[in-house]
Amino acid sequence: MKTIKRIGVLTSGGDAPGMNAAVRAVTRLALYKGVEVMGIYNGYQGLIDDNIKELHERDVSFIINRGGTMLYTARCDEFREASGIKKAVDTCSRHGIEGIVTIGGDGTFRGAVDLTDAGVPCIGIPGTIDNDIASTEMTIGFDTAMNTVVELIDKLRDTSESHARCTVVEVMGRDAGDIALQTSIAVGAVTAVIKEIPTDFDHVIDKMVEARKNGKRNFIIVAAEGMGHDYGEELSKMIEKRSGIETRFARLAHIQRGGSPTLRDRVLATQMGCAAVENLVEGQMKQVMCLRGNNIVAMDIYDALTVDKLMKGKLSPDEEDRIPPNKLYEMKRIVADKQAYKKYLNYIIDHITL
Ligand code: F6P
Repeated sequence: MKTIKRIGVLTSGGDAPGMNAAVRAVTRLALYKGVEVMGIYNGYQGLIDDNIKELHERDVSFIINRGGTMLYTARCDEFREASGIKKAVDTCSRHGIEGIVTIGGDGTFRGAVDLTDAGVPCIGIPGTIDNDIASTEMTIGFDTAMNTVVELIDKLRDTSESHARCTVVEVMGRDAGDIALQTSIAVGAVTAVIKEIPTDFDHVIDKMVEARKNGKRNFIIVAAEGMGHDYGEELSKMIEKRSGIETRFARLAHIQRGGSPTLRDRVLATQMGCAAVENLVEGQMKQVMCLRGNNIVAMDIYDALTVDKLMKGKLSPDEEDRIPPNKLYEMKRIVADKQAYKKYLNYIIDHITL
């Protein structure tokens, strides 16, 4: 087996609290195993610009508690083109980088697959507040973002109660309703409006009007940003008009991405970072680290991307036909589990609020 001497680590796409904890774990364990670590700054852009610096133990001190990413991040269009990938491969060979741990969301994994295909094997660690990576039950940053949302909605609820108002709160998640669903439960929202499950507004408004008659003063409705940019504002107008309850709109936006990571995110990031290093020193690259039933497992990076496309409805019939039936069955099961879980959370919200 070929011994790996030097790896790179990068963070890419939207930052997520806990990315630093992952960078720290990768660096520390790799150094312990005698593997040198090169920090690649600004995501894939750093490979194009040759923005790279060797990381030592002390370079990753006192970052486990910090939000954002010490390696910085970027969304890099040039890396989508063959010329960009060629530059990245050349940079890796100049620095003797034999493999890269890439920390980020689905865009990051697409980049990791391209880089892997071009001869630089990658290992992916899912880091995004959206929790929208199909292969893992949880992504790094999701827990912290949800806790931030809960803290902020609790504050909105104070003022909603004082003024006897409804507040429609838009939360992030890109096309995924995961943040909206779980935070809705935690703040006692009337409903979570998400792309994945239709909302029966007649029912919601009837419940609100009835509850108001019975003395309920505040109402929170959580809307996922995937519903569209102007959706939340329009929804608040519609709710006010139809229910007669004064309604305000609040977009939480990027504040959800900042802040010190929770214990859950620090531990998950550390476990995934360590697992990635353990695997790559064993010569196991081209993988994505995933949380399944409280265990960190590795999934082939191509399969992880395929199951992700399947979940997001982006897998073409041709691509689907090429997947062996046993694998396709397993992928469909993963996607179905996720969808069923969302329906279950939605059912809870619908049946225990108001
Ligand atoms: O993927 C993380 C995320 O915060 C999404 O929830 C959101 O849709 C997007 O990134 C916002 O991107 P940007 O930081 O480029 O505005």
